Amino acid sequence: MSNIVIVGTQWGDEGKGKVVDLLAEHADMVVRFQGGNNAGHTMVVEGEQFISHLVPSGILQGKTCFIGNGLVVDPAVLLEEIDYLSSKGVDLSPDKLKISEKAHLIMPYHQAIDHARERMKGDKKIGTTGRGIGPCYEDKATRRGVRFVELLSQAVFREKVATILEEKNFYLKHYMDAETLDLEPILAEYSGYAERLAPYVANVSVVLSDGMQAGGQVLFEGAQGTHLDIDHGTYPYVTSSSTVAGNACSGSGVGPGKITDIIGIVKAYTTRVGEGPFPSELFDDVGDAIQQKGVEFGATTGRKRRCGWLDTVILENAARLNSLSGLAITKLDVLGGLDEVKICTAYDYEGQRLEHFPTDLNVLAACKPIYESHPGWAEDISGIREFEALPENARKYLERIQELAETPIQIVSVGPGRDETIVLDNPYTD
Ligand code: GDP
Ligand code: IMO
Ligand code: MG
Repeated sequence: MSNIVIVGTQWGDEGKGKVVDLLAEHADMVVRFQGGNNAGHTMVVEGEQFISHLVPSGILQGKTCFIGNGLVVDPAVLLEEIDYLSSKGVDLSPDKLKISEKAHLIMPYHQAIDHARERMKGDKKIGTTGRGIGPCYEDKATRRGVRFVELLSQAVFREKVATILEEKNFYLKHYMDAETLDLEPILAEYSGYAERLAPYVANVSVVLSDGMQAGGQVLFEGAQGTHLDIDHGTYPYVTSSSTVAGNACSGSGVGPGKITDIIGIVKAYTTRVGEGPFPSELFDDVGDAIQQKGVEFGATTGRKRRCGWLDTVILENAARLNSLSGLAITKLDVLGGLDEVKICTAYDYEGQRLEHFPTDLNVLAACKPIYESHPGWAEDISGIREFEALPENARKYLERIQELAETPIQIVSVGPGRDETIVLDNPYTD
């Protein structure tokens, strides 16, 4: 029996959706444990593209999917996604999707505050997705959040929102110089959401536990990436949730003893959306070529992703923070055609060699990447399905990543399609 956690090792968009979709074939239950619709996960199955922001990527394999207690959920976006996926023939009946009673709701004032705050920060902005993620987690921590369990009880919901809205409107008007919001339209809107979503709301911890007891295997789908983690990322240029593997348990209501494997998703180069330091970022033609060939645009906001070489200082950080048991390397095909590929293996900080990711952002911002250079490969590798059939230089590049990360590579992705994959060691079946 295997219960596997998938996490991003970099700054998000590593290709988690693709790998979750692939591995979900062998799982019975797929659960998201943190984040919200700041995530954008893309899957390509038989040439058809699917994008999900909230529904776990395992839904395309027909598995039972769960939105764990650790998420912040915008009900309007969730319903839109249920309708969009259903229109593409995906079964999203309440048998297939369960939402935790304890998951928090993103409210209109969370989005209003997210936008106003970014505007007020000017050039110090974080570059958030503007989905209200931070303000919603903020209310969760200050115990003013609204959960699905409250949404389902109209009287409780009305009383809670009425009290909170008074405070939010004061803040919006007097501090942020932004528009205030009216209570009644919010209540009417959310009562519609309650009616449609009520059949999906469940005690996720119990359903997962019963499923495991009956022999079912779980896949935990992380969103964002280790370096966007609220504790371990490039704070404050991070998201507002814990993105590391440890949170797969508390964000879904499953005890740590159930986890058997933790797979870190590693893009063969590095990308980042939004603000914040990025030591191996490229500002030249090679960076542009990777951005274009990799179609590096955000699935959520459409922003161009910043691109750079693979950085194994951050990979070492991710391997340690998540206790990775294996790696999935994605988008290796994108590096084809380059004369050389580089790996940043350490940082130079004022003449000092740093092997570990520094905490102080001023230090990180001053770090210069120390690269080792590897010869590239010219061949198109997207049709290759066996490790041995890869060009020698591509194999050497992968072997070096494995060595630097001190973690075995189990999967290599060579294209966006589900089948465009080399599986060296399937964590569910081997
Ligand atoms: P996620 O947020 O980690 O799920 O990643 P995204 O879906 O936001 O971004 C990854 C993008 O790369 C998507 O457009 C995928 O379809 C695409 N993709 C995933 N794996 C590969 C691959 O091996 N090669 C190529 N060329 N594209 C890939
Ligand atoms: P997936 O799951 C890449 C980034 C935003 C911003 C910062 C904070 O698709 O990998 P937030 O709206 O969360 O408060 O924004 O985090 N960010 C992501 N970047 N992929 C994501 O998700 C991201 N989710 C948030 O760009 O810099
Ligand atoms: Mg993404």
